[in-house]
Amino acid sequence: AFEVRLASTGKAYTIPADKSVTEALHEQGVEILVSCEQGVCGTCITRVLEGECDHRDLYFTDEEKAANDQFTPCCSRAKSKVLVLDL
Ligand code: FES
Repeated sequence: AFEVRLASTGKAYTIPADKSVTEALHEQGVEILVSCEQGVCGTCITRVLEGECDHRDLYFTDEEKAANDQFTPCCSRAKSKVLVLDL
């Protein structure tokens, strides 16, 4: 598990190993618009302010992934303990 924190509220949410970021946030009342939920369409793209992304999408180029400033929360995860999102 890792933690996602929202920059706007400072609130932290636990993302368990068996749930996507969008799923876990949805269950805790935070909605991120999704479509494919497979890392293909880019609908869910969210800016990342802090932490290290574990990119699992097919949408971003390697360069974009390396920039570590946005990710696809429908399928991607975190390598760091905390990910701060621009939400
Ligand atoms: Fe399609 Fe996340 S919903 S990439």
